[in-house]
Amino acid sequence: MTDAQPIASLLRDTTGDASLRTWRIDDAPALLSAWTDPDVARWNGVPPEPSIELATKWLTGASRQTTASPSIDIVLVDDNDQVLGEVGFVIDRQRQVAEVGFWVGAAHRRHGVGSRLLAAARQLAPQLELERAFAISEAENEAAIALLGACGWPEVATTTSKRRAFLLPTPSPT
Ligand SMILES: CC(C)(COP(=O)(O)OP(=O)(O)OC[C@H]1O[C@@H](n2cnc3c(N)ncnc32)[C@H](O)[C@@H]1OP(=O)(O)O)[C@@H](O)C(=O)NCCC(=O)NCCS
Repeated sequence: MTDAQPIASLLRDTTGDASLRTWRIDDAPALLSAWTDPDVARWNGVPPEPSIELATKWLTGASRQTTASPSIDIVLVDDNDQVLGEVGFVIDRQRQVAEVGFWVGAAHRRHGVGSRLLAAARQLAPQLELERAFAISEAENEAAIALLGACGWPEVATTTSKRRAFLLPTPSPT
């Protein structure tokens, strides 16, 4: 594997009034707010007893992530540096396979944030030395499935009717 690099060095801003960055410890209130959002709690893995202390601890780890870490998480922020949403990879390094997870803050949905997060994952993935990456959604999560379809992630077969899987496409041309 090539030398680990800080994630921040790989993030290029996308466009306009929002930009990508890594998590920082002072984002704890934003992370706690996401953990306590009913939709994020329902569809993403969140701690059973979220607290500002737990969010701070989690962010201490996240702020040190590199391309060699087992988890890599990035956020899209607005021009006031407020977190709009997150996309992350959980990586099985032996198999070079990753699962991509994502959420958008309730107040920011249906404004293209999710699409930008998935585009960011698509641009970042080649630098993580992955064979493949998938997003896996509960079959009932209509918003996530619609987003993945709208962003052109092809669906692949699963062994269960409860979850649907979508393959991360190759990077879009820059
Ligand atoms: C799923 C989620 C990330 C979508 O984020 P978003 O920022 O609202 O998505 P976008 O605005 O980029 O949507 C792009 C397109 O996806 C589709 N889409 C997104 N949300 C949708 C919804 N609730 N219903 C139907 N289609 C939807 C639409 O085609 C949309 O385009 P349009 O707004 O022009 O119609 C957001 O609803 C969310 O955070 N949900 C809770 C957490 C979650 O489900 N995470 C995924 C776990 S697998």
